[in-house]
Amino acid sequence: MTDDRELMQAAQRARGNSHSPYSHFRVGAALLAKSGKVYTGCNIENAAFPATVCAERTAFFKAVSEGEREFEAIAIVGGKEGETSDFCAPCGVCRQVMAEFCRKDFKILLGSPEKFEAYPLEALLPFSFTEKDL
Ligand code: THU
Repeated sequence: MTDDRELMQAAQRARGNSHSPYSHFRVGAALLAKSGKVYTGCNIENAAFPATVCAERTAFFKAVSEGEREFEAIAIVGGKEGETSDFCAPCGVCRQVMAEFCRKDFKILLGSPEKFEAYPLEALLPFSFTEKDL
C-alpha cells in the first residue's frame, strides 16, 4: 500500500529528473494506479517550446501505455530550481487528461512531502468535457 506521504516522496524524487533548462521550473509527479503500481514523471522541456510535456502527463502516458486505465491518486511537487513551491497546481491540459481516465473523486495531492493537501479532481476541473458530452 502506497500512502499519500510516500506518493509525495516519489513525486519529489521524480522531480530530480526534470529536464527544464528553459523555464528552470522543475516538476515531479507520482501516479498511483488501482493496480497498486506507481508511475512517476517529470517535466521534459524542448527548445521548440510547444513540444514540452508536463510531469503529470509524463506519468499518465507512461501508465496508460503500460495498460493501466484506472487510477487512485497523483502527487505533484514543483517549483523554481532550488525551491519547492507550497502549491504547484496542475495545468489545464493535465487536468483534462486526468478527466479522461479518472473519476470525480480522483485524489490530487499538492504541496511538499512535509506539508500537502488533497483535492478531488471535481474541485480542480468542474463542468469538465468528457466522453459523455460526445
Ligand atoms: N509544468 C509541469 O510539469 N506541471 C505543472 O503542473 C505546471 C507546469 C511544467 C511545464 C514547463 O516545463 C514548466 O513547468 C513551466 O511551465
